Amino acid sequence: MIDLTNIPVTEVVEKSGLRHIAFIMDGNGRWATAKGQPREFGHRAGAANFKTIVRYCKKIGIECCTVYAFSTENIKRPKREVEAIMTLLVNYIAEAVDEKDIEFRFIGDAYGLGENIGRKCAGLEKETAGRPYRLNIALNYGGRAEIVQAVNRLMQDKLLRGDKTPVTEDDISAYLYTAGCPEPDLIVRTGNEQRISNFLTWQSTYSEFHFSQKMWPDYTTDDVDLAVRDFAGRGRRWGGV
Ligand code: FPP
Repeated sequence: MIDLTNIPVTEVVEKSGLRHIAFIMDGNGRWATAKGQPREFGHRAGAANFKTIVRYCKKIGIECCTVYAFSTENIKRPKREVEAIMTLLVNYIAEAVDEKDIEFRFIGDAYGLGENIGRKCAGLEKETAGRPYRLNIALNYGGRAEIVQAVNRLMQDKLLRGDKTPVTEDDISAYLYTAGCPEPDLIVRTGNEQRISNFLTWQSTYSEFHFSQKMWPDYTTDDVDLAVRDFAGRGRRWGGV
């Protein structure tokens, strides 16, 4: 544990070894409803805030961010709401290539949302590959589905190689969408809910959790600082003593 008094947040990030933050951006709908607005209004504000928070994380020295933009279950929402989220996403992809230093990865089944979206996501990944700061956008994502696709691809490759050795944890990690990223040190959920909702099921085994009562559009960079300092004050033991 480190003494956090009067230390700038960038130093807290460095000293605490915080490399990867994942966000469950919850509360857009309730935020809009409380203002007497349609839910889409909340997603618009949420998407704008997502940009602010991701840029801030990069600024304070975080190496990798993952955001939960659309789960495999979210497709069951009213058509109008799903379309509004997809429009925000497509607009974002069009401008995202200009986000300095960010390497984009879409984790999940982007093609399952349509050929057009899948191709746009793949294009952005290709254009931004090799940049220093990694942003994983979970899209049509489910943690269990991610493990299933990893195991299936792994088994197929092993079969092709005639490899009969037992599967290891490292094998599975290497076939997850997040391969190449450190596991999330910290998972932040906004919206006053305290559950994982099928997010990063494999990768969150030793993550620390921070819950904010704020709805996502109201979540600020000061709140990120609060979560970072909370994380740094935890005693991580990875199952040891
Ligand atoms: C959860 O709030 C939020 C979502 C399901 C969608 C999140 C999407 C965005 C922030 C926009 C994505 C756009 C880009 C560019 C990545 P909720 O709707 O479940 O809120 P509620 O719990 O109040 O109903």
